[in-house]
Amino acid sequence: MIMLDTNEGYEDAKQNLLSRIENTPEHLAEGKELYGIYCAVCHGSKGDGQGILMTREKFLGVPSYVDREITPGSVYHVLMYGKNAMGSHAGQVNATERWQIAQHVMELRQNLIKK
Ligand code: HEC
Repeated sequence: MIMLDTNEGYEDAKQNLLSRIENTPEHLAEGKELYGIYCAVCHGSKGDGQGILMTREKFLGVPSYVDREITPGSVYHVLMYGKNAMGSHAGQVNATERWQIAQHVMELRQNLIKK
């Protein structure tokens, strides 16, 4: 599948792009650690959008994952290309790491839904 940096590419990834790695505790742990480094400043460690940059009002408009219809494929796309005010993270994390982070993000979202 070719992934395009367009809205169509985003929708396509959301529907059709499947993770290249299995769901394992090891990948999840790795994803959690990377998330803590690259994502939590904005998204918060729980994924509720209350990262330190948000609470200090250095950055605005970070959503809670629970308010977005996301899939592992859409998370991967956003990490590749960014989305609106969120920049690409393609230079910071490689493909495997993107899938590991996506696994962790989906778990955070699941935990937010349960509340
Ligand atoms: C500088 C702040 C910032 C950082 C760092 C950041 N994000 Fe975001 N993120 C945002 C903003 C702002 C949005 C809302 C973009 C929009 O308008 O849809 C967003 C949206 C998202 C979305 C929802 C996109 C959708 O499909 O609706 C996901 C998933 C996401 N970010 C994951 C991550 C992950 C994973 C990382 C770490 C690798 C990360 N973000 C790092 C600011 C950030």
